[in-house]
Amino acid sequence: MPSDLVCFNPDCGRSYPIDDVLYNCPSCGSLVEVRNDFSGVKAQDLSDLWDRRRLSRKPLDVSGVWRFRDMLPFVTDESHVVSIREGNTPLFDAPQAASYAGLDALALKHQGYNPTASFKDNGMTAGATQARKLGMRRVACVSTGNTSASMAAYAAAAGMQAIIFLPHGKIAYGKLAQALEYGARTIQVDANFDQILALVRGLADELGIYLLNSVNPFRIEGQKSIVIEMLDQRDWRVPDWIVLPGGNLGNVSALGKGLRELKKIGLIDKLPRIGLVQAAGSAPFHHLYEAGFSGSLKPVVEPETLATAIRIGDPVSWQKAAFEVQTCEGVVAAVSEQEIADAKAIIGRCGIGCEPASAASLAGIKRFVDSGLIPPDVDVVAILTGHLLKDPDYVYHYHTGELKAPSGDEISSTFGNAPVVMPNDSAKIAAFLESDSG
Ligand code: F0G
Repeated sequence: MPSDLVCFNPDCGRSYPIDDVLYNCPSCGSLVEVRNDFSGVKAQDLSDLWDRRRLSRKPLDVSGVWRFRDMLPFVTDESHVVSIREGNTPLFDAPQAASYAGLDALALKHQGYNPTASFKDNGMTAGATQARKLGMRRVACVSTGNTSASMAAYAAAAGMQAIIFLPHGKIAYGKLAQALEYGARTIQVDANFDQILALVRGLADELGIYLLNSVNPFRIEGQKSIVIEMLDQRDWRVPDWIVLPGGNLGNVSALGKGLRELKKIGLIDKLPRIGLVQAAGSAPFHHLYEAGFSGSLKPVVEPETLATAIRIGDPVSWQKAAFEVQTCEGVVAAVSEQEIADAKAIIGRCGIGCEPASAASLAGIKRFVDSGLIPPDVDVVAILTGHLLKDPDYVYHYHTGELKAPSGDEISSTFGNAPVVMPNDSAKIAAFLESDSG
Protein backbone atom coordinates (compact mmCIF):
# COMPACT_ATOMS: atom_id res chain seq x y z
CA MET A 1 0.00 0.00 0.00
CA PRO A 2 1.44 3.43 -0.87
CA SER A 3 1.77 6.05 1.89
CA ASP A 4 -1.29 8.13 2.72
CA LEU A 5 -2.22 10.93 5.09
CA VAL A 6 -4.13 9.98 8.18
CA CYS A 7 -5.74 12.02 10.92
CA PHE A 8 -3.68 11.77 14.10
CA ASN A 9 -6.79 11.72 16.30
CA PRO A 10 -7.53 7.99 16.83
CA ASP A 11 -11.22 8.74 17.35
CA CYS A 12 -11.36 10.13 13.82
CA GLY A 13 -8.57 8.36 11.91
CA ARG A 14 -9.79 9.45 8.46
CA SER A 15 -7.31 8.96 5.65
CA TYR A 16 -6.57 11.12 2.65
CA PRO A 17 -4.47 10.78 -0.52
CA ILE A 18 -0.79 11.48 0.09
CA ASP A 19 -0.71 14.42 -2.34
CA ASP A 20 -3.62 16.35 -0.81
CA VAL A 21 -2.43 19.70 0.54
CA LEU A 22 -3.41 19.10 4.14
CA TYR A 23 -2.02 20.03 7.51
CA ASN A 24 -5.16 19.41 9.59
CA CYS A 25 -7.92 16.87 9.13
CA PRO A 26 -10.84 18.54 7.27
CA SER A 27 -13.21 16.45 9.34
CA CYS A 28 -12.06 16.96 12.95
CA GLY A 29 -9.29 19.57 12.77
CA SER A 30 -6.48 17.47 14.31
CA LEU A 31 -3.07 17.37 12.66
CA VAL A 32 -2.53 14.74 9.98
CA GLU A 33 0.49 12.48 9.68
CA VAL A 34 1.99 10.38 6.93
CA ARG A 35 1.15 6.70 7.27
CA ASN A 36 3.72 4.38 5.76
CA ASP A 37 3.32 0.71 5.02
CA PHE A 38 6.48 -1.16 5.98
CA SER A 39 5.00 -4.64 5.76
CA GLY A 40 7.42 -7.09 4.18
CA VAL A 41 10.40 -4.81 4.89
CA LYS A 42 13.27 -6.78 6.48
CA ALA A 43 15.38 -5.00 9.10
CA GLN A 44 18.65 -6.67 8.09
CA ASP A 45 18.11 -5.91 4.40
CA LEU A 46 17.54 -2.25 5.21
CA SER A 47 20.59 -1.82 7.40
CA ASP A 48 22.75 -3.64 4.80
CA LEU A 49 21.39 -1.38 2.05
CA TRP A 50 22.07 1.74 4.12
CA ASP A 51 25.62 0.53 4.81
CA ARG A 52 26.24 -0.06 1.09
CA ARG A 53 25.01 3.44 0.27
CA ARG A 54 27.79 4.89 2.42
CA LEU A 55 30.21 3.88 -0.33
CA SER A 56 28.20 5.61 -3.04
CA ARG A 57 28.77 9.10 -4.46
CA LYS A 58 25.19 9.50 -5.67
CA PRO A 59 23.74 12.78 -4.29
CA LEU A 60 20.83 10.99 -2.63
CA ASP A 61 23.14 8.51 -0.95
CA VAL A 62 25.48 11.17 0.46
CA SER A 63 22.53 12.92 2.12
CA GLY A 64 22.08 11.85 5.74
CA VAL A 65 18.32 11.99 5.20
CA TRP A 66 17.92 10.33 1.80
CA ARG A 67 20.36 7.52 2.54
CA PHE A 68 17.42 6.31 4.62
CA ARG A 69 14.84 7.11 1.93
CA ASP A 70 13.18 3.73 2.38
CA MET A 71 11.72 5.26 5.57
CA LEU A 72 10.26 8.11 3.45
CA PRO A 73 8.41 6.16 0.77
CA PHE A 74 6.15 9.10 -0.15
CA VAL A 75 8.87 10.04 -2.65
CA THR A 76 8.08 8.04 -5.76
CA ASP A 77 10.27 9.99 -8.22
CA GLU A 78 13.81 10.74 -7.04
CA SER A 79 14.06 13.75 -9.36
CA HIS A 80 11.74 15.59 -6.98
CA VAL A 81 14.24 15.43 -4.13
CA VAL A 82 15.62 18.81 -3.02
CA SER A 83 18.87 18.10 -1.18
CA ILE A 84 21.80 20.24 -0.08
CA ARG A 85 23.65 17.41 1.66
CA GLU A 86 21.78 17.56 4.94
CA GLY A 87 22.24 15.19 7.85
CA ASN A 88 25.48 13.25 8.37
CA THR A 89 25.77 15.01 11.70
CA PRO A 90 28.24 13.86 14.34
CA LEU A 91 27.54 11.98 17.54
CA PHE A 92 30.11 13.33 19.99
CA ASP A 93 31.30 11.87 23.24
CA ALA A 94 31.24 14.83 25.66
CA PRO A 95 32.96 13.92 28.96
CA GLN A 96 32.96 17.47 30.39
CA ALA A 97 29.24 17.82 29.75
CA ALA A 98 28.67 14.39 31.28
CA SER A 99 30.48 15.27 34.48
CA TYR A 100 28.67 18.64 34.68
CA ALA A 101 25.36 16.76 34.59
CA GLY A 102 26.58 14.06 36.97
CA LEU A 103 26.69 11.29 34.37
CA ASP A 104 29.51 8.83 33.66
CA ALA A 105 29.16 9.48 29.93
CA LEU A 106 27.05 11.54 27.57
CA ALA A 107 26.74 11.60 23.78
CA LEU A 108 25.66 14.73 21.91
CA LYS A 109 24.01 14.37 18.50
CA HIS A 110 24.75 17.75 16.95
CA GLN A 111 22.23 18.82 14.35
CA GLY A 112 23.96 22.19 14.14
CA TYR A 113 26.36 20.56 11.66
CA ASN A 114 23.66 20.69 8.99
CA PRO A 115 23.99 22.95 5.89
CA THR A 116 22.02 25.78 7.48
CA ALA A 117 23.28 24.85 10.94
CA SER A 118 20.14 23.47 12.57
CA PHE A 119 18.05 20.32 12.75
CA LYS A 120 15.43 21.97 10.57
CA ASP A 121 17.31 20.87 7.44
CA ASN A 122 16.45 17.22 8.14
CA GLY A 123 12.78 18.06 7.87
CA MET A 124 12.99 20.83 5.30
CA THR A 125 14.57 18.63 2.64
CA ALA A 126 11.48 16.40 2.84
CA GLY A 127 9.02 19.32 2.97
CA ALA A 128 10.67 21.04 0.01
CA THR A 129 10.65 17.74 -1.89
CA GLN A 130 6.89 17.39 -1.39
CA ALA A 131 6.47 21.04 -2.45
CA ARG A 132 8.34 20.29 -5.68
CA LYS A 133 6.33 17.09 -6.20
CA LEU A 134 3.14 19.15 -5.90
CA GLY A 135 4.47 21.78 -8.33
CA MET A 136 4.39 24.58 -5.73
CA ARG A 137 5.94 27.92 -6.73
CA ARG A 138 5.80 29.62 -3.32
CA VAL A 139 6.45 28.31 0.18
CA ALA A 140 5.95 30.07 3.50
CA CYS A 141 6.64 29.67 7.19
CA VAL A 142 6.60 31.59 10.43
CA SER A 143 9.68 31.01 12.46
CA THR A 144 11.67 31.80 15.54
CA GLY A 145 14.58 31.80 13.07
CA ASN A 146 15.88 28.36 12.20
CA THR A 147 12.93 27.13 10.16
CA SER A 148 13.09 30.31 8.09
CA ALA A 149 16.84 30.01 7.49
CA SER A 150 16.39 26.42 6.41
CA MET A 151 13.32 27.02 4.26
CA ALA A 152 15.00 29.97 2.56
CA ALA A 153 17.96 27.79 1.56
CA TYR A 154 15.86 24.87 0.30
CA ALA A 155 13.49 27.15 -1.60
CA ALA A 156 16.48 28.82 -3.25
CA ALA A 157 17.92 25.43 -4.19
CA ALA A 158 14.56 24.36 -5.65
CA GLY A 159 13.86 27.65 -7.48
CA MET A 160 10.79 28.44 -5.37
CA GLN A 161 9.96 31.77 -3.75
CA ALA A 162 10.37 31.71 0.04
CA ILE A 163 8.14 33.94 2.12
CA ILE A 164 9.04 34.06 5.78
CA PHE A 165 7.35 35.69 8.73
CA LEU A 166 9.31 36.53 11.85
CA PRO A 167 8.48 37.98 15.26
CA HIS A 168 9.98 41.46 14.91
CA GLY A 169 13.11 41.95 17.03
CA LYS A 170 12.86 38.52 18.64
CA ILE A 171 15.11 36.37 16.52
CA ALA A 172 18.84 35.85 16.64
CA TYR A 173 20.76 37.79 14.00
CA GLY A 174 22.59 34.77 12.63
CA LYS A 175 19.25 33.32 11.56
CA LEU A 176 17.85 36.53 10.10
CA ALA A 177 21.11 37.01 8.18
CA GLN A 178 20.74 33.57 6.62
CA ALA A 179 17.18 34.22 5.43
CA LEU A 180 18.20 37.51 3.82
CA GLU A 181 21.27 36.04 2.15
CA TYR A 182 19.33 33.07 0.75
CA GLY A 183 16.96 35.54 -0.88
CA ALA A 184 13.74 34.98 1.08
CA ARG A 185 11.04 37.63 1.11
CA THR A 186 11.23 38.43 4.81
CA ILE A 187 8.32 39.97 6.68
CA GLN A 188 8.82 40.98 10.30
CA VAL A 189 5.57 41.24 12.23
CA ASP A 190 5.00 42.91 15.59
CA ALA A 191 3.50 39.81 17.21
CA ASN A 192 4.77 36.60 18.73
CA PHE A 193 5.30 33.26 16.99
CA ASP A 194 1.91 31.84 17.97
CA GLN A 195 0.00 34.89 16.76
CA ILE A 196 1.90 35.00 13.46
CA LEU A 197 1.33 31.29 12.85
CA ALA A 198 -2.43 31.84 13.00
CA LEU A 199 -2.08 34.74 10.55
CA VAL A 200 0.13 32.82 8.13
CA ARG A 201 -2.11 29.75 8.08
CA GLY A 202 -4.98 31.93 6.90
CA LEU A 203 -2.83 33.64 4.28
CA ALA A 204 -1.40 30.36 2.98
CA ASP A 205 -4.91 28.96 2.40
CA GLU A 206 -6.12 32.18 0.81
CA LEU A 207 -3.16 32.63 -1.54
CA GLY A 208 -2.40 28.96 -2.26
CA ILE A 209 1.07 29.11 -0.73
CA TYR A 210 2.52 25.86 0.61
CA LEU A 211 3.14 26.00 4.33
CA LEU A 212 6.43 24.54 5.57
CA ASN A 213 6.01 24.89 9.33
CA SER A 214 6.09 21.67 11.32
CA VAL A 215 2.32 21.37 10.88
CA ASN A 216 3.42 20.10 7.47
CA PRO A 217 3.50 16.30 7.87
CA PHE A 218 6.40 15.90 5.42
CA ARG A 219 8.64 18.02 7.65
CA ILE A 220 8.01 15.47 10.39
CA GLU A 221 8.87 12.62 8.00
CA GLY A 222 12.25 14.18 7.25
CA GLN A 223 13.01 14.87 10.89
CA LYS A 224 12.61 11.16 11.68
CA SER A 225 16.02 10.77 10.05
CA ILE A 226 17.70 12.38 13.08
CA VAL A 227 16.96 9.38 15.26
CA ILE A 228 17.45 6.91 12.41
CA GLU A 229 20.94 8.25 11.70
CA MET A 230 21.77 8.37 15.41
CA LEU A 231 20.79 4.74 15.90
CA ASP A 232 22.65 3.72 12.75
CA GLN A 233 25.76 5.43 14.21
CA ARG A 234 25.26 3.31 17.35
CA ASP A 235 24.80 0.06 15.43
CA TRP A 236 21.12 0.09 16.45
CA ARG A 237 21.93 0.05 20.17
CA VAL A 238 19.06 1.94 21.77
CA PRO A 239 20.12 4.41 24.48
CA ASP A 240 18.24 4.45 27.78
CA TRP A 241 17.33 8.11 27.31
CA ILE A 242 17.13 10.65 24.50
CA VAL A 243 16.84 14.23 25.73
CA LEU A 244 15.92 17.20 23.56
CA PRO A 245 14.49 20.73 23.78
CA GLY A 246 10.84 21.40 22.93
CA GLY A 247 9.19 24.48 21.43
CA ASN A 248 6.50 23.93 18.82
CA LEU A 249 6.96 20.19 19.54
CA GLY A 250 7.49 19.01 15.97
CA ASN A 251 10.86 17.51 16.73
CA VAL A 252 9.74 15.31 19.60
CA SER A 253 6.79 14.21 17.46
CA ALA A 254 9.18 13.20 14.69
CA LEU A 255 11.49 11.46 17.13
CA GLY A 256 8.64 9.37 18.53
CA LYS A 257 7.26 8.48 15.10
CA GLY A 258 10.70 7.46 13.87
CA LEU A 259 11.26 5.26 16.90
CA ARG A 260 7.89 3.57 16.54
CA GLU A 261 8.52 2.83 12.86
CA LEU A 262 12.01 1.47 13.52
CA LYS A 263 10.62 -0.81 16.20
CA LYS A 264 7.84 -2.01 13.94
CA ILE A 265 10.35 -2.91 11.25
CA GLY A 266 12.56 -4.64 13.84
CA LEU A 267 15.63 -2.40 13.52
CA ILE A 268 15.35 -1.75 17.25
CA ASP A 269 13.83 -3.96 19.91
CA LYS A 270 12.81 -1.39 22.52
CA LEU A 271 12.00 2.29 22.87
CA PRO A 272 14.24 4.68 24.80
CA ARG A 273 12.75 7.03 27.36
CA ILE A 274 12.34 10.62 26.21
CA GLY A 275 13.32 13.67 28.23
CA LEU A 276 11.81 16.84 26.80
CA VAL A 277 13.03 20.19 28.10
CA GLN A 278 11.36 23.58 27.85
CA ALA A 279 12.44 27.02 29.00
CA ALA A 280 10.53 27.88 32.19
CA GLY A 281 9.08 31.08 30.68
CA SER A 282 7.69 29.19 27.67
CA ALA A 283 6.66 25.86 29.14
CA PRO A 284 3.01 25.05 28.37
CA PHE A 285 3.84 21.41 27.63
CA HIS A 286 5.60 21.08 30.96
CA HIS A 287 2.42 22.34 32.63
CA LEU A 288 0.40 19.72 30.75
CA TYR A 289 2.84 17.01 31.85
CA GLU A 290 2.55 18.16 35.46
CA ALA A 291 -1.22 17.86 35.09
CA GLY A 292 -0.77 14.21 34.11
CA PHE A 293 -1.59 14.98 30.45
CA SER A 294 -5.22 15.42 31.41
CA GLY A 295 -7.29 17.91 29.43
CA SER A 296 -5.99 20.26 26.77
CA LEU A 297 -2.79 22.25 26.64
CA LYS A 298 -3.23 25.71 28.08
CA PRO A 299 -1.21 28.17 26.02
CA VAL A 300 1.22 30.56 27.68
CA VAL A 301 -0.02 33.87 26.33
CA GLU A 302 3.22 35.82 26.61
CA PRO A 303 6.04 33.31 26.36
CA GLU A 304 9.49 34.60 27.29
CA THR A 305 13.01 33.19 27.12
CA LEU A 306 16.38 34.29 25.80
CA ALA A 307 16.44 30.93 24.03
CA THR A 308 14.35 32.60 21.33
CA ALA A 309 14.16 29.42 19.22
CA ILE A 310 11.81 27.91 21.81
CA ARG A 311 9.90 31.06 22.73
CA ILE A 312 6.55 29.45 21.91
CA GLY A 313 3.45 29.49 24.09
CA ASP A 314 0.95 27.55 21.99
CA PRO A 315 2.75 24.61 20.37
CA VAL A 316 0.79 23.22 17.43
CA SER A 317 2.02 19.64 17.76
CA TRP A 318 1.19 19.20 21.43
CA GLN A 319 -1.21 16.30 20.85
CA LYS A 320 1.32 14.36 18.80
CA ALA A 321 4.00 15.19 21.36
CA ALA A 322 1.81 14.07 24.26
CA PHE A 323 1.25 10.72 22.55
CA GLU A 324 4.93 10.17 21.71
CA VAL A 325 6.19 11.25 25.13
CA GLN A 326 3.76 8.92 26.88
CA THR A 327 4.55 6.04 24.51
CA CYS A 328 8.23 6.43 25.45
CA GLU A 329 7.57 6.81 29.19
CA GLY A 330 8.86 10.32 28.82
CA VAL A 331 9.33 13.13 31.27
CA VAL A 332 9.20 16.88 30.74
CA ALA A 333 11.26 19.53 32.56
CA ALA A 334 11.23 23.31 32.62
CA VAL A 335 14.62 24.94 33.19
CA SER A 336 15.62 28.48 34.10
CA GLU A 337 17.48 31.02 32.00
CA GLN A 338 20.52 30.61 34.25
CA GLU A 339 20.51 26.83 33.86
CA ILE A 340 20.34 27.15 30.07
CA ALA A 341 23.13 29.72 29.99
CA ASP A 342 25.50 27.68 32.16
CA ALA A 343 24.78 24.42 30.33
CA LYS A 344 25.48 26.19 27.07
CA ALA A 345 28.86 27.43 28.30
CA ILE A 346 29.77 23.89 29.34
CA ILE A 347 28.91 22.54 25.89
CA GLY A 348 31.20 25.25 24.56
CA ARG A 349 33.98 24.09 26.87
CA CYS A 350 33.70 20.65 25.26
CA GLY A 351 34.88 22.33 22.05
CA ILE A 352 31.43 21.68 20.63
CA GLY A 353 29.13 24.66 21.32
CA CYS A 354 25.47 25.18 20.48
CA GLU A 355 22.77 27.83 20.50
CA PRO A 356 20.79 28.56 23.69
CA ALA A 357 17.71 26.40 22.98
CA SER A 358 19.92 23.37 22.34
CA ALA A 359 21.57 23.73 25.74
CA ALA A 360 18.22 23.22 27.43
CA SER A 361 18.93 19.50 26.79
CA LEU A 362 21.97 19.47 29.05
CA ALA A 363 20.28 21.69 31.65
CA GLY A 364 17.40 19.20 31.70
CA ILE A 365 19.69 16.19 32.02
CA LYS A 366 21.39 17.81 35.00
CA ARG A 367 17.96 18.25 36.59
CA PHE A 368 17.01 14.64 35.89
CA VAL A 369 20.27 13.33 37.37
CA ASP A 370 20.14 15.65 40.40
CA SER A 371 16.60 14.46 41.17
CA GLY A 372 17.65 10.80 40.91
CA LEU A 373 15.42 10.12 37.90
CA ILE A 374 18.39 9.37 35.65
CA PRO A 375 21.09 7.29 37.38
CA PRO A 376 24.70 8.29 36.58
CA ASP A 377 25.61 5.10 34.76
CA VAL A 378 22.88 5.01 32.12
CA ASP A 379 23.26 5.58 28.41
CA VAL A 380 22.04 9.07 27.47
CA VAL A 381 22.03 10.91 24.14
CA ALA A 382 21.19 14.61 24.01
CA ILE A 383 20.16 16.25 20.78
CA LEU A 384 21.74 19.63 20.09
CA THR A 385 19.46 21.40 17.68
CA GLY A 386 21.41 24.43 16.47
CA HIS A 387 24.93 25.83 16.01
CA LEU A 388 26.80 28.12 18.39
CA LEU A 389 27.09 30.88 15.77
CA LYS A 390 23.34 31.23 15.33
CA ASP A 391 23.24 33.62 18.30
CA PRO A 392 26.61 35.30 18.88
CA ASP A 393 25.12 38.23 20.84
CA TYR A 394 23.99 35.87 23.57
CA VAL A 395 27.44 34.30 23.76
CA TYR A 396 29.24 37.61 24.03
CA HIS A 397 26.88 38.96 26.67
CA TYR A 398 27.15 35.80 28.77
CA HIS A 399 30.94 35.77 28.75
CA THR A 400 31.20 39.47 29.53
CA GLY A 401 28.65 39.33 32.35
CA GLU A 402 26.07 41.44 30.51
CA LEU A 403 23.37 38.85 29.91
CA LYS A 404 19.96 39.68 31.38
CA ALA A 405 16.91 37.41 31.53
CA PRO A 406 13.64 38.74 30.00
CA SER A 407 12.55 39.53 33.57
CA GLY A 408 15.49 41.95 33.82
CA ASP A 409 17.33 39.69 36.29
CA GLU A 410 21.04 39.40 35.68
CA ILE A 411 22.35 36.05 34.55
CA SER A 412 25.59 35.14 36.32
CA SER A 413 28.48 34.51 34.06
CA THR A 414 29.33 31.33 35.98
CA PHE A 415 31.65 29.97 33.31
CA GLY A 416 32.42 33.36 31.79
CA ASN A 417 35.44 33.94 29.60
CA ALA A 418 35.67 37.66 28.92
CA PRO A 419 38.30 38.93 26.48
CA VAL A 420 41.24 40.73 28.06
CA VAL A 421 42.24 44.18 26.79
CA MET A 422 46.02 44.79 26.84
CA PRO A 423 48.29 47.55 25.58
CA ASN A 424 50.53 46.86 22.60
CA ASP A 425 53.39 45.95 24.91
CA SER A 426 55.04 42.54 24.66
CA ALA A 427 56.55 42.69 28.18
CA LYS A 428 53.16 43.35 29.73
CA ILE A 429 51.48 40.65 27.65
CA ALA A 430 54.26 38.17 28.51
CA ALA A 431 53.93 38.99 32.22
CA PHE A 432 50.20 38.52 32.00
CA LEU A 433 50.54 35.16 30.26
CA GLU A 434 53.15 33.97 32.79
CA SER A 435 50.79 34.80 35.64
CA ASP A 436 47.78 33.27 33.87
CA SER A 437 47.53 29.63 34.86
CA GLY A 438 44.89 29.00 32.16
N1 F0G B 1 15.93 24.08 19.11
C1 F0G B 1 16.06 24.99 18.14
C2 F0G B 1 17.42 25.50 17.86
C3 F0G B 1 14.95 25.41 17.39
O1 F0G B 1 15.10 26.27 16.41
C4 F0G B 1 13.67 24.90 17.72
C5 F0G B 1 12.48 25.33 17.00
C6 F0G B 1 13.59 23.95 18.75
C7 F0G B 1 14.73 23.57 19.43
C8 F0G B 1 12.30 23.35 19.16
O2 F0G B 1 11.87 22.38 18.24
O3 F0G B 1 9.68 23.39 17.72
O4 F0G B 1 10.25 21.07 17.01
O5 F0G B 1 9.87 21.59 19.40
N2 F0G B 1 12.46 26.28 16.17
C9 F0G B 1 11.32 26.64 15.34
C10 F0G B 1 11.70 27.66 14.31
C11 F0G B 1 10.06 26.87 16.03
O6 F0G B 1 10.83 28.42 13.85
O7 F0G B 1 12.83 27.67 13.87
P1 F0G B 1 10.32 22.09 18.07
